[in-house]
Parts: sequence; structure tokens; C-alpha cells
Amino acid sequence: MGAPSVAPAPGDTGAGGALSARARALSPSPTMAFDARAKALRAQGRDLVNLTAGEPDFDTVAQAAEAAVAAIRGGFTRYTEAVGVRSLREAVAAKLRRENGIAYDPDEIAVTTGAKFALYASMQVLCDPGDEVLVPAPYWVSYPEQAKLAGAVPVFVPTEEADGFVVRAALVRRCITPRTKLLVLNSPCNPTGAVIPPAELAAIGEVVLAHPRLFVLSDEIYEKMVYDGAQPGSIAALDPELRRRTVTINGFSKAFAMTGWRLGYTAADRPVARAIAGFLSQTTSNVTSVAQRAAEAALNGTEAAVAAMVAEFAKRRRYVLDRFAAMPGVRLRPPGGAFYVFPNVSAVLGGRSPAGHPLPDVDAFALRLMEEGGLATVPGSGFGTAEHVRVSYAASLAELQTGLDRFEAFVRAIS
Ligand SMILES: Cc1ncc(COP(=O)(O)O)c(C=O)c1O
Repeated sequence: MGAPSVAPAPGDTGAGGALSARARALSPSPTMAFDARAKALRAQGRDLVNLTAGEPDFDTVAQAAEAAVAAIRGGFTRYTEAVGVRSLREAVAAKLRRENGIAYDPDEIAVTTGAKFALYASMQVLCDPGDEVLVPAPYWVSYPEQAKLAGAVPVFVPTEEADGFVVRAALVRRCITPRTKLLVLNSPCNPTGAVIPPAELAAIGEVVLAHPRLFVLSDEIYEKMVYDGAQPGSIAALDPELRRRTVTINGFSKAFAMTGWRLGYTAADRPVARAIAGFLSQTTSNVTSVAQRAAEAALNGTEAAVAAMVAEFAKRRRYVLDRFAAMPGVRLRPPGGAFYVFPNVSAVLGGRSPAGHPLPDVDAFALRLMEEGGLATVPGSGFGTAEHVRVSYAASLAELQTGLDRFEAFVRAIS
């Protein structure tokens, strides 16, 4: 089977042919579909450990929650500027200057409905039909689909597992054609956790500079979740011309445990920023007013809660890496960031599950692990690989222990 379906399958003419070609070509988000299936099984009373989550299992930082309550009580409940209130954009600009070394004017910032819509809006204003969008693989599930929604063509830049899935400048250069318009960078990466080292980022910057038509979408949403001294860096900080041709994307979901608030932003040179502002004005309008107040408080508040969360992630990561290192048939290189591991399970594919179902591929592996093994993960197929599953460690150590006991029991039963 593929991922449990939440949208028409490609090729399905749907609703008596009512659906657009665009809707029919869209692949549903497999991460959300597996998470939904896991939640449904749990709702039925099944004993299931769910390690599919792409969200921190921490409470939203307190200062943000309190600011939102105050905003509601204070009647801050009307439309705002489509790109978000100026004070929030000032706070974002200050953050980018302070932490990332990039100077943006508040008018070059647009607050969006999650980083997901920041990416979508950016692709919509930068890509024409037929343009090629370079997506390093394995990739976060939404990049290729959003490129297609803009009429563009995703082109996958291969990375090597043996090289820690790091995006290499030489591989990027090899994929560039006269039609290439955008390069997507995501460091730390979902799903692999790979962090592009500073020297490689500089080399990628040189490749971009050598191709005047090329723009960069730099998705930096996992920037705070780094371990063992990994340094992600911001490509827009490296050179004024790179700043001009980069849209820096970030958000509040991961760093401040605010997934449900739907808060992200773009930072881009003025002409691109203006186009994004126009696009937002005709699509979502502003992000929820009270959420904007929460975002501002998060950015201006203490980083102590963020640091505590990252320290906890670091502990869990160590535990998860140690567990996988002791498992037969599973290969895993320690990733530098995010809160996922991406073990290679190809050595145990091809046989049968403990209940006798065939396991030809990672989709079947993840499905049987969930249904028989009581552990939900996400198969790599949605991320562009046939050999891996994504395991999130945004879960308590107790859940991780039970979950990895189940992973181990499952692979031992089929190895
Ligand atoms: C790499 C990456 N970018 C962007 C997002 C979107 O985050 P949000 O829309 O919640 O800000 C996610 C969420 O999982 C992600 O993993």
C-alpha cells in the first residue's frame, strides 16, 4: 500500500471529472497521512507508540501563550496588514540580524501561515511554468508538490547516505540547466537531519553566484536543533548578491513549539518581498492577529525555554542513536540536526512480517511495523527514498524506549 490516502490519487479523475489537473496531480502529504492513521488507531484503543510527529512534544513557550491571551482580552482581534504587524516584522528583522547576520528591513519581511505557506508563496512568485526547482533528495515532502503547484518541475539533486546526506556544491552544479530557477536548501534537513557545513555552504553560494538566473529558498526552520557542534549558517549572510537572490524562510513551529499557531515568515530583497506581500493580500491575508502577538513575545522573550528543549532533544538523540547502533539489519549515521533519524532498513526488506505479510518495500515495512509492531514511523517513499524510514524523537524518553523496543523486536523477527 501507499500512504493512507487524504487526497485523490494521481490519475484519479475524481468527482465525475470535476477536479482540476492540478488537484489530480497532487500527492497527499504522507507524513500527515501516517500521523492521521496512527491517531485513528489510538482512538480505537490500540496500544501504539507514535514516532511520526514533526512537532516538538513541549508546551508553547509561556511568554507567547500569555501574550496571545492578553491580545484576546485586549480586543486585538481585527485584520492586520497582510504581511503582519510592523512590530512583529521589526522583531523578525532584529532576530535575523542578531542570530543569522543578515540585514533585512521590516518591509522585506512577510509573516505567513506557517513556514509551509512561506515556501508556497515564494514558489508562486518566483516560478513560471516549466522552470526547474532543484530539490536535494531526500527532501521534505512538500517541496516537490509546491513546485508542481507553481507549474514548475522539481529536479532532484542526489545526496549520498555515506556522506551523511549533505548537499554538495558539485552535485548542485551538475543539475543546473538553462531552465533552473530555484534551489531549495533545508539545513538541518527534514528527514535526514543533515547539516550543510560552512565550507560547503560557501561553495554552494559560489555555484549560485555563477548562475545569474538562480534563486535560493533557504528553509532554516530547524536551525536551533543542532548537536555535536554542527553549524547550519544562512546562505543570505554570505554575500550581498546571495542576499538579493535568496528568500530566507523560518517559522515558530519548531523552535518555540508553536505548530498549531501557524506562524512562519519570509525574508527577501524588496522586489521579491513586495511580490510576496501582494500574493498574501490575495490569498490568506494576515496571520491570525493574536498569534502575531504570541510570535512577537516569543522572539523578544528569553531563549531559556528553547535551550532547555534543545538540551532535551540532544539527550533523546543520543539514546536513539545508541539503540539503533545495537540493532541488526539497520544502518544509521548520526545526523547533525533536527529531531529525526533516518535509518536504512533495506537489509531487512524482501522477506515477510511476523504475521506473514510480504515486506517488498519501505511502505509495507512501515505499515506492518505500525499494524503488527505497534510503532508508527513514516516510510521514506514520500521523502524520495526506498530504503529508509523516518523516526521522530520528538517524544518522551519513555515513549522512545518502548518505541525502539518494538522497532528492535520487529527487525529481529524478520532479519
Ligand atoms: C523542513 C520543513 N519546512 C517547513 C515546515 C513547515 O512548518 P510550519 O508550516 O509548521 O511552520 C516543516 C514542518 O514539518 C518542515 O519540516
